[in-house]
Amino acid sequence: MSDFPPASSSSGSTAAPFMLDRSKLVPTVDIQDVSHFYGEGEGRKQVIFDNNLTIYPGEIVIMTGPSGSGKTTLLTLIGALRSLQQGSLKVLGKELRGLSTAEQVKVRRNIGFIFQAHNLFDSLTAYQNVRLTTELHDYTPEQRHQLPINMLTDLGLKERLHYKPANLSGGQRQRVAIGRALVNQPKLVLADEPTAALDKDTGRQVVTLLQHMAKSQGSAIMIVTHDNRILDVADRIVNMVDGYIVSNIEVAENIAICKFLSKCSVFEGASPNLLSEIAGKMKREKHPFGTPIIKQGDLGDKFYVVRNGRVEISKSKDGRTDTVVHLGPGAFFGELALLRNEPRAATVTATEPVEVLTLSKEVFLEVRKNLGTFEEQLRKATFGGH
Ligand SMILES: Nc1ncnc2c1ncn2[C@@H]1O[C@H](COP(=O)(O)OP(=O)(O)OP(=O)(O)O)[C@@H](O)[C@H]1O
Ligand SMILES: [Mg+2]
Repeated sequence: MSDFPPASSSSGSTAAPFMLDRSKLVPTVDIQDVSHFYGEGEGRKQVIFDNNLTIYPGEIVIMTGPSGSGKTTLLTLIGALRSLQQGSLKVLGKELRGLSTAEQVKVRRNIGFIFQAHNLFDSLTAYQNVRLTTELHDYTPEQRHQLPINMLTDLGLKERLHYKPANLSGGQRQRVAIGRALVNQPKLVLADEPTAALDKDTGRQVVTLLQHMAKSQGSAIMIVTHDNRILDVADRIVNMVDGYIVSNIEVAENIAICKFLSKCSVFEGASPNLLSEIAGKMKREKHPFGTPIIKQGDLGDKFYVVRNGRVEISKSKDGRTDTVVHLGPGAFFGELALLRNEPRAATVTATEPVEVLTLSKEVFLEVRKNLGTFEEQLRKATFGGH
């Protein structure tokens, strides 16, 4: 490995596609520095710590994390089911901080909730339970009759339209509750373990329905789940631990970066798992034409992989500056200063608009260690442990 490999060590121009430009979309959910506490006085306990999360129309976000990590709490804050104590939280363009109870109720009307406690009305049939929530919206009598039937049919309950909750199974009740949450085609759906009480096929039916709503109407959908079988519908996977969002991974982008990294010589031998982990830790930076990305003599704090565009490496000595090499997509630079704890040995300048992926020094050194372990494992596997 060299700090500035020759251009031939670049792995070709396999730049992954650009991400969808969301800068013009209004986020459906915009969480900024949100914290939350339960209890009072001595018993006051913080359970959500300075979290940030943005969800755009049409996105399906899956949140995972250990029991007690704060997932349901965050979901109820987004749903205006709990008052926001600290930070800013905008839902469908409306700031929730400081809302009166009446205003919170109004916000909730535009959200589809799929929560564990179904709260179905026992005296009403499945059809009537779903129809009830259409009353708050403008529909023709015909639509008001037909929409609940269509929804329950999509959920596999065509034969159970006129059953009351007491005569339905747990999974069927769960589906009625889902129908109730989705019948008005809300622009935001919040679901807490929606597939927990469902068998594999019914669970799949429900997530397919959610996926359809996201893609055909631009609904944003946030699902808290432990169900690994439904991870494939996620556009983004968010992991919460002890009240902190510890990772927020855009799936398509992550896969594109993994494919890209798998062709970079520096990550040769990394397993898909390790690549995915690395991709999740990489940050994207854009540098306009002419910008120095790193400067000779500076202390090194990051490792870089060129994703798009070209850079020029130049070295200055005795008042003279010479171009050493040009690098393109797939090439990397900046690792020697990190490995040797030395200042940067050259300057790297963008000679086109450039997109780079970076790893912090700390993460880079950790990754190198893991790659080492991987190589050792491979050797052991190949030579039967000798
Ligand atoms: N109403 C409440 N009053 C006091 N503490 C609460 C309350 N609700 C939740 N907690 C505490 O807040 C923390 C986060 O709980 P939360 O229900 O948000 O976790 P979770 O990630 O949804 O867990 P699970 O996966 O088990 O559903 C836990 O320590 C829990 O004990
Ligand atoms: Mg929970």
